[in-house]
Amino acid sequence: MNIFKSLVLRILVFILFVISQKSAGQINVNPRAQWFVNDRYGMFIHFGLYSGAEGVWKGEKLRNDNNYAEWIQYRNRISKEEYVTLTNRFKWDEIDPEKWVILAKNSGMKYVTITAKHHDGFALWDSKASDYNIANYTNPKRDIVKELAEACKKHGLKLGLYYSHWVDWDHKYGWDHTKEISGFSPADFDIYWQEKVIPQITELLTNYGPVGMIWFDMWIHHSQTVVTKPQLLQLKKLIRGLQPECLINSRLGLSLEEDSDVDFQELGDNEFGRTKKDFPWQSPATVAHSWGYNRLDFEYKSATCLLQSLITNASLNGNLLLNIGPGPDGSVPSEIEKRLLEIGEWLRINGESIYGTTAFNLPKDMNDWGVITHKSEEGNTMLYLHLFNIPSNRKLKITGINSAPVRAYMLDDKNKTQLPELHDNIVTEIGLPSMITEKLIPVLVLEYTGRPDYMTDIVARNIEGGYSFNPGNIVFSSDQLSIVPRSRGGTIPSHVNLNSPTILRWKFYVDSPGLKSIDLSYSYQGKSKDNRIKVKVADNDLNHDILNTGKTVGEPKSNWIIDNFRSFRLGSVNFDKKGFYELEISFLPVKNEEIKFQWLWIK
Ligand code: GLC
Repeated sequence: MNIFKSLVLRILVFILFVISQKSAGQINVNPRAQWFVNDRYGMFIHFGLYSGAEGVWKGEKLRNDNNYAEWIQYRNRISKEEYVTLTNRFKWDEIDPEKWVILAKNSGMKYVTITAKHHDGFALWDSKASDYNIANYTNPKRDIVKELAEACKKHGLKLGLYYSHWVDWDHKYGWDHTKEISGFSPADFDIYWQEKVIPQITELLTNYGPVGMIWFDMWIHHSQTVVTKPQLLQLKKLIRGLQPECLINSRLGLSLEEDSDVDFQELGDNEFGRTKKDFPWQSPATVAHSWGYNRLDFEYKSATCLLQSLITNASLNGNLLLNIGPGPDGSVPSEIEKRLLEIGEWLRINGESIYGTTAFNLPKDMNDWGVITHKSEEGNTMLYLHLFNIPSNRKLKITGINSAPVRAYMLDDKNKTQLPELHDNIVTEIGLPSMITEKLIPVLVLEYTGRPDYMTDIVARNIEGGYSFNPGNIVFSSDQLSIVPRSRGGTIPSHVNLNSPTILRWKFYVDSPGLKSIDLSYSYQGKSKDNRIKVKVADNDLNHDILNTGKTVGEPKSNWIIDNFRSFRLGSVNFDKKGFYELEISFLPVKNEEIKFQWLWIK
C-alpha cells in the first residue's frame, strides 16, 4: 500500500472511531474503559487488619475526627508487633468474600474493588514478594483476593484491586508521613518500589485472572511526594504489558495533562460531580464516614441521599464507587447493607435510567426539580428525568427542550401509561400521576423521535412557578463577575459584589402570561441615598433607590454579626403574551460603594 492510501485509511479509521464514540454518547473514553462508563456503579471494599481494631485502640477512639479507621495504626501510633495481633480477632471461618459479591450484585453494582494492600502494607493475598500477607497469618491459609476473584467471576462482576503504592507502613523504605520530619532518601524509596510494589503488582496481574482496574491512592501529585515520574511510568508500563485491558485510576499520581493515558479521573473522597465531563470519572464514597469498619461511626447517609449521588454523577457522565467496611467476622454493618439493598431495589426497577446512559446537555442546576440522564436507541432518544423535587400541583415544567416528546410515562409503570403533556416552545409540561408510587426517587421518561433540540442560556421556571435570576444563571454581564459562595454555614447567601456601574442580563420564557411581581434581594451597608438600581423587562422600567439593609445575627453569643440581605418589592409588570423576554438590571453605585446582589425573583 502506498503512503497516500495508508494515510487515507488511517484518517477514515480515525473518523469512524470519532463517530462511534459520539454515537455512544460520552466522548473521550478510551475503548478499554467503555464497560466502566456503561456500568456507572461499583462497590468499594475496605478490609484489612484494621477491620479488627474497629476504630478503637486500647479504649481510645481513633485519633482523627474523619473516622478513617483504616488509619488507626498510624494515627494511634501502634507498633507493627501489636498491630499484627489483630489477626486473632477475626472469625476466619465465617468470613466469606462471596457474600460481599452477592451483596454487590443484589445492590445493582457491576464491579467490586477491594483493598488488596492498604497503607498498612499488609497483603490480602498469598504474596511471594512480602511475608507480610494474610496467608502467613491464617490457618488454614486464606487468600482473600483469590476468593473474591473467583466469586466475581462466578457472579459476573468485574474485579478491581486497590493497591497503596505510595504509603506503606510495613516496608522499611515505604512512605510514612512521619518521614517528613525524620527525613527520607529517594534511593531508599526505590528499593521499596522495586522489591515490593513492582513484584506485588506483577503477582496481582498474573495470578488472579482478568483484573478490571488497579485503584491507586496517591491523592496528591507525584511532584509533592517521594514517588518519581519514571517510577510511575514503569508501573503503568508493567500494567499495560501484563493486562492491556486493565484500567488505571488517576490517583496513580500523574496529572491528566502530563499523561492522559490513565483511564479515569478519581475525585476526592466523597466529592461528587458538579459539571458534565466527557473524560470518565468516579467518586469514591462512604455510607457514613469511615472506609474501614469503625464501630463508632454512626452518621449514615440515607438511601435517598446516596442514590442522589449516584444519579447526579451519572447525569454528568460520572461513576460512583460506594464503600462497605466489613467487620472482623466479615459481616457488613446492617445500616450499610440495608441502604445498599434499597438502592438495589430501586435499580431493579429504574436501572435503565442509569446503566448505559450519558449526560444530557442541559446544565446541572438549570431545572430545580432534578437531573437528566439520556440514551439513544435506534435513532430515538430517551430522557430520564430524576425527580428530586416534585411540584405539589403535580404539573412538572421542563425548561430548555425545544422538541415535543412523543411519549411520557413513569419508569416504574409497567404499562407505560401515557401522561398528559403540553409542549410550548421550550417548555414542556407533564401532568405527573397524583399517586407517585416510587418512594425513593421517581423517574419520568420522555421519548423523542431523533435527537431533541435544546437551549441552555435561559432561566428555567422553578417548581414554585417563579423565576430566580441570580449570578449563577446569568447570560451577560458588562463586567467579569466573581461569585462569592455561601458562607458561615449558609447564613451569608451566595452573591456578587458590585462597586462600579454594572449591567446584568438574563433570558427567560414566559409560558403563562399575566401580571407578575418583581422582588430584588441585596445587601448594602453604606449611608448614601444616591445609589440606584434600574430594572428593564417587558418594556417596563423599574427604579429603586438602594437602602441600607443593616446587619443580622447568625447565632447568639457567637460573634456572628453579618450583613443582612433583604428583599424589596420593586413593583408589578404585565407580561401580555407568551414568549421570550430579556431582563436587564443596571447597578449604578456612586463613589465605588459596594452592593451585594443576591437575586431578582419574578412570579
Ligand atoms: C484516602 C485514605 C484511604 C482511603 C481512600 C479512599 O486516600 O487515605 O484510607 O482508602 O481515601 O478513597
